[in-house]
Amino acid sequence: MTTHSPGLAIETQGLVKVFGTNRAVDGIDLRVPAGTVYGVLGPNGAGKTTAVKMLATLLRPDDGEAYVFGKSVIREADAVRSRVSLTGQYASVDEDLTGTENLVLLGRLLGHHKGYSRSRAAELLEVFGLTAAADRQVKTYSGGMRRRIDIAASILNTPDLLFLDEPTTGLDPRSRNQVWDIVRAVVAQGTTVLLTTQYLEEADRLASRIAVIDHGKVIAEGTPGQLKSSVGAGSIHVRLRDADQREEAERLLIGALGSSVQLGSDPVALTAAIPGHGTDLGAAEDAARALAELARAGIIVDDFSLGQPSLDEVFLALTESSVQTGGTHPGRADHTADRTSDRTSDRTGNGGGSNGGSVNGSSNGKSGDIVKESAA
Ligand SMILES: Nc1ncnc2c1ncn2[C@@H]1O[C@H](COP(=O)(O)OP(=O)(O)OP(=O)(O)O)[C@@H](O)[C@H]1O
Ligand SMILES: [Mg+2]
Repeated sequence: MTTHSPGLAIETQGLVKVFGTNRAVDGIDLRVPAGTVYGVLGPNGAGKTTAVKMLATLLRPDDGEAYVFGKSVIREADAVRSRVSLTGQYASVDEDLTGTENLVLLGRLLGHHKGYSRSRAAELLEVFGLTAAADRQVKTYSGGMRRRIDIAASILNTPDLLFLDEPTTGLDPRSRNQVWDIVRAVVAQGTTVLLTTQYLEEADRLASRIAVIDHGKVIAEGTPGQLKSSVGAGSIHVRLRDADQREEAERLLIGALGSSVQLGSDPVALTAAIPGHGTDLGAAEDAARALAELARAGIIVDDFSLGQPSLDEVFLALTESSVQTGGTHPGRADHTADRTSDRTSDRTGNGGGSNGGSVNGSSNGKSGDIVKESAA
C-alpha cells in the first residue's frame, strides 16, 4: 500500500504475522469505515487476536501495511496508540483490587487528577451496572461483570477506535445483551469499534460489515445480510412422532425447499437448509409451507425450530462453493484458499451436517448456536 483512504478508521493491505512456520495472519486486507462497528468473525486460531494486536501496535507485522486513521502502525505507532484502546480476550484488570480501585488507578495512570479519576470511575461503574459491586475485589465478580469492568477500563478515556476481542465469549445471553448495549452506546458517542467474535449472531446484531477469517485469511467480507443470504436463510429442524415416516418426510422437505436434508443420529430428526432470501420472513414462509406439506401427507411433527445459519454453515457454504465454483461467491474475498475446506470439515467433525453448531464450543448438543437466542 502506498497511501491510505480518508474516512477509514482502519486500512490494511497484505498484513502478515508469522509464528515459526505458522502464518497466523496471512495477507489480510481490511477497510473499516470510521464510526461503525466492524465484525471480524472466525473460529479458534483463525488469527483474530493476532490481527487485532498488530492493529493496536502490540505486535509488529512481518509484512504488509496497516493504517489506523491514516497513521502507520509500524512507522507511527505512538500516533496510533494515542487514538486506540483494546479490551483483550482475557480480562486485564487487577483481580485483587476492587472495581473502583481498578478504575481510579487506571485514571491516575492515564494522567488524570484524583478527583476526576474518582468521579469518572463512579460514572462508569454506574453506566455498567456495577455500582453495587464497586467496593468488591474483582476476583469475586462473575464472568459477565468482569467483561463489563474490562470494557469500562478500556473506555475510561473515550478512544476513537476500540478493539473488543471476543467481548462476550462465555457469557450467558443476558450478560451478552448487556455488553451489546454497551457497544451500541460507545459507537453512538462516535467511537469506531472493531469487534472479534465467534458468533455470527453477535456480528449480525452489532456490525455493519463483517470479515470472515480463517487460517489467517479473509474468506468473505460484506454486510451481515450479504453473508447470510450467501449461505441460505437458515435451517429448519424437525422431530417426527414416527421414525417410519422419516424417509417420506425427507422426500417432501427436499421437494418443498429444494435443498439438501440431513438426517441426524436421532431416528426421528431431520434438518433441512432453507435457501436464501436475505430476509427472515421469507425463510419463515418457506418453513411454514414445508411443514404444511408434511401435515397434508399425514406426517405428525412433534417439534420444530427455525434457525439462522450457524457459523459452521457459513464456513461450509463458503468453502464448498469455493471448491465448486472457484470463488464466485457473493461477498466473498478473492483469495479463498481451498485448504480452508479441509480444516472446516475437520472442525465440524462430519463434513456436511452443521446441526451441532460446535465452533463456539458452547453448543448444547441440540440445535446449538443455530437456534436464535432470545433477545430479551
Ligand atoms: N505468541 C504466539 N506464538 C506462537 N503462536 C501464536 C502466538 N499467538 C498466536 N499464535 C498462533 O497463531 C494462530 C492464530 O492465533 P490467534 O490467537 O490470533 O487466533 P484467534 O482467532 O484469536 O483464536 P481464538 O478464537 O481462540 O481466540 C494460532 O495458531 C495460534 O496458536
Ligand atoms: Mg483470540
